[in-house]
Amino acid sequence: MCNNNFIQKTKDFFNNNDIDFGKPYYIFDTVDSTNRKAKDIAEQGGTDKSLIVSQIQQSGRGRLNRGWESPPGGLYFSVILRPTICVKKTTLLPLVASVCVAKTLRMYGLSACIKWPNDIRINRKKIAGILLESNIYQNKLEYIILGIGVNLNTTKHQFSEKIRKNVTSVLSEHSKPIDYYQFLRTLLDFLDTYYRLFINDKYPRIISDWKELSDTLEQKVKIVTSKEDIIGKAVDIDEHGFIIIDTIQGEKKTIMSGDCFHFTEL
Ligand code: BTN
Repeated sequence: MCNNNFIQKTKDFFNNNDIDFGKPYYIFDTVDSTNRKAKDIAEQGGTDKSLIVSQIQQSGRGRLNRGWESPPGGLYFSVILRPTICVKKTTLLPLVASVCVAKTLRMYGLSACIKWPNDIRINRKKIAGILLESNIYQNKLEYIILGIGVNLNTTKHQFSEKIRKNVTSVLSEHSKPIDYYQFLRTLLDFLDTYYRLFINDKYPRIISDWKELSDTLEQKVKIVTSKEDIIGKAVDIDEHGFIIIDTIQGEKKTIMSGDCFHFTEL
């Protein structure tokens, strides 16, 4: 599964495909984290839609300060985004990215669902993750790093025992390896389309697509935030991508970010 010609093959892929979302590209056999590398490149002036991809990551980063195990066979990349929008609007980007990843997986016949805000799962097992990191200076958005990791052609034994039972991969679900570059192409095409929708303020479309792909709405959930745990029914998401909960105390609460658990799985 470890591909020794990764850099050359990936260069060939980008050179032979007319891809706008993902230019210029930076390819590595190994990095600590493509998000961290992307940040370095962004600090040196890296432009909108630059893509950083690596065959493996030594210390992949996940949401909420967690790690992201990144063995060979997975897809790990980050994109520098410099949309000229106000900071408030960036909260929809996790939804944009999750719609694209879920739609790509569905193109492969897999029943991928989004758990709020942007966990991509199949049968409750995580198959892909999205990490957005923003650099805001004096209330002005400098850049955003969008990092995506997909368990593509990986097998369970490549993951630590701690997470093994909670993860799956395209290979495990599909029972045969899939073409890394075809998958990447499909995902970049979706990102291109939805990033344009986002830039052009087509928020209702993004939100309705997200709702269609999510399995969180209508569920009883527990949302763990830095301040409190909120329990109730997830009834909607608002125009910012925040989740609206009818709490068991009878209140309506809008939550910006947190760790979401479906009660049926607790
Ligand atoms: C999550 O916790 O669900 C988000 C995981 C995001 C992982 C990707 S892999 C590529 C990019 N580089 C990182 O270090 N993290 C993201």
